[in-house]
Formats: sequence, C-alpha cells, structure tokens
Amino acid sequence: MRVWKSIAEWRTHRETIAAKSIGFVATMGALHRGHAALVERCRAENEIAVVSIFVNPSQFNDPNDLARYPNTLESDLTLLQKLGVDDVFVPTAAEMYPQGYRMKVQPDERYRIMEGLHRPGFLEGVATVVLKLLEIVRPEKAYFGEKDYQQLMLIRDLVAEFFLPCKIVACPTVRAESGLAESSRNALLSPAAREKAPVIHRTLCTAESIEQARASLEAEGFRVDYVEEHAGRRFAAVFLDGVRLIDNVALCC
Ligand code: PAF
Repeated sequence: MRVWKSIAEWRTHRETIAAKSIGFVATMGALHRGHAALVERCRAENEIAVVSIFVNPSQFNDPNDLARYPNTLESDLTLLQKLGVDDVFVPTAAEMYPQGYRMKVQPDERYRIMEGLHRPGFLEGVATVVLKLLEIVRPEKAYFGEKDYQQLMLIRDLVAEFFLPCKIVACPTVRAESGLAESSRNALLSPAAREKAPVIHRTLCTAESIEQARASLEAEGFRVDYVEEHAGRRFAAVFLDGVRLIDNVALCC
C-alpha cells in the first residue's frame, strides 16, 4: 500500500496506472465498519482502490467540532492495508487549500434543508473538497454511504452539474445489531450514551409522524436539531451528550 501526501507525486504515479480502473472512497479517517464496507465494494469492483483521509476544515461550522474530531491515522492505515487498498491519499490542509478557502462550490437554496440549513457552510465545504478530491484522484467510480444521505445526493448533483466523468455508487448504511448507524462520531459517545443512541434508528422506523418522532426523541433526552421527511425517507439530526448524530431510513422500512 502506498501513502501519498503530495498531489504532484500522486499525479505522477497516477499516470503509470492510467489504464486501470480506479475506484475511490473519500473519508475523514476514524474508520469504522461502514468505511470498511465502502472500501470492500470499491476493492471488488475496480483494479485499483484509492482511499483519501482528510479532515476537511471547510465543512466544519463549529471549531470545537473540528478540534475534537477523532484522529486515528495509524490504526486507519493498518485497517486499509488489511482491506487490500492500493493507494491512500493523506494530504495536509495546506496541500488541499494552498491559497486558503478562496473559491468554493455554492449549492443553491434547494439545498437549504436539513444539514444545509442547520450546519451553515457544511454542504459548501463538502462539495468543494469532493470536487477537489475527484479532480485529483480521477476515479471511474466513487463510493459514498447512505447514512450521509443528503451529502450523497449533493455529490451526485455535483458530478452531474460539473460533468465529472465519475460514477457515484451509493452504499447502504452499516448498522450495529442494536440498529445504531456506524459513524466516526460514535467513538465520542460515553458508554451510557452509546446504550441510548440506538433509540434514534428505532424512533425513525416506528414513529407515526415526524412530530411524534421529535417528541419521543426529546422525551428520551435527545436535543433534536431536526426530524424531516423528503423523497420517501425520514431524516433526523440529534445531539446526545453534546455529540451530533444523524441517521435516516426509507419510509417503507
Ligand atoms: O463523509 C465524509 O467523511 C466527508 O464529508 C467527506 C465526503 C470525506 C468529505 O470531506
């Protein structure tokens, strides 16, 4: 497994593998079973599997959230090696934003719902960094999880809007037996909060309405950012012990 920090060096190497099919998984590290499932699919469907690890500062609206985002680079690299990844791209912020954040992708008002409304700058930051990553890695296929459903839709739209020659492959949310969606943020939960967190998924699946879902989550002690329904899915973002968790389910579940 090769680890690249420099865009220029990766690009020189990329020329030598240009004839092969390249699949890509973008991550912010703190890898878990959800990432492993994306990487396994990427590995199976492409000759070369590339993973990026970059905690993208431009998508954090809260500096405390950025500061405490888990950093587990050593164990992440060990996992990626075991999964048979060929190339890992681990750039610095200076490599990705050499001129600072002077230019960004601005999704329009249609995206001002859910994460786009409650986390100012988040979708811009994601769209901008994913555009950069796709341009650097130039994969045929890129794999994103349905847990971050709005992000997945945004990236699909980004690729269509900018005519990027990349297929976006949606992968189902990976859950613990309890129903809790795998997330890097789960590592920040206390044992008691981890016990309670599966209530989010259960509530999304069983509540009769978004109002009822909000009320039962609040009664269980969650601070609710939103519960909304769009395009046949029900979405929630909640705080538990100060940790923000998101999840969504298809309404027919
Ligand atoms: O889902 C994530 O981990 C991030 O939002 C992504 C897509 C890697 C962009 O920084």
